[in-house]
Amino acid sequence: MSEPSLTILAEKVDDAEAIERLHERTFGPGRYARTAFRIREGRGHELSLSFTARIGTLLVGSVRLTPICIDETKALLLGPLTVEPPFRSRGVGTALVKRALKEAQAKGHKLVVLVGDEPIYAKSGFKRIPKGQVKMPGPVDPARLLVAELKAGAFDGVKGTIRPDWIVG
Ligand SMILES: CC(C)(COP(=O)(O)OP(=O)(O)OC[C@H]1O[C@@H](n2cnc3c(N)ncnc32)[C@H](O)[C@@H]1OP(=O)(O)O)[C@@H](O)C(=O)NCCC(=O)NCCS
Repeated sequence: MSEPSLTILAEKVDDAEAIERLHERTFGPGRYARTAFRIREGRGHELSLSFTARIGTLLVGSVRLTPICIDETKALLLGPLTVEPPFRSRGVGTALVKRALKEAQAKGHKLVVLVGDEPIYAKSGFKRIPKGQVKMPGPVDPARLLVAELKAGAFDGVKGTIRPDWIVG
């Protein structure tokens, strides 16, 4: 019998528990202390810009996007990105990121930043932010601060500290 195919769906309220368990297994309790977690905690992620990966009915991965500001520039923070260990290295993570970026672009968003490993995200268009151009409101390795432009030139001249976006609806 052939394996059920991969589907990427917008996150639903009902997915929260399964995603929380996935995050707990992947990142453990230390996740609460991470600077990116603290930012996401403020406003919460945007369901319509967050996606789950399913093989058949099984939730095997998740990616979330959260509205933020870099000084006065609106942007999105990507993460966490997580795929269940048995389903890794099959393109699920890349499919989740590509779908989230496509949807964000379609909704008029111009910039996405994240804290993560450059080799994972480079193929989805992320590049390292020059040291000091953007700061997180907490400790982060500057080499892991990445950006993707959804509109050419959107990152030109953008600098400052990332904060949760409390205003965008
Ligand atoms: C990172 C993660 C989401 C990738 O999911 P995935 O479904 O395996 O991703 P893909 O199959 O699309 O592969 C992405 C590529 O990144 C590579 N990769 C995965 N983890 C990597 C790492 N830590 N460093 C460098 N490359 C990595 C894979 O080998 C693959 O490259 P390839 O296509 O050339 O083989 C998954 O490994 C995971 O959940 N890891 C634990 C949580 C985590 O680290 N999240 C990211 C925080 S930055």
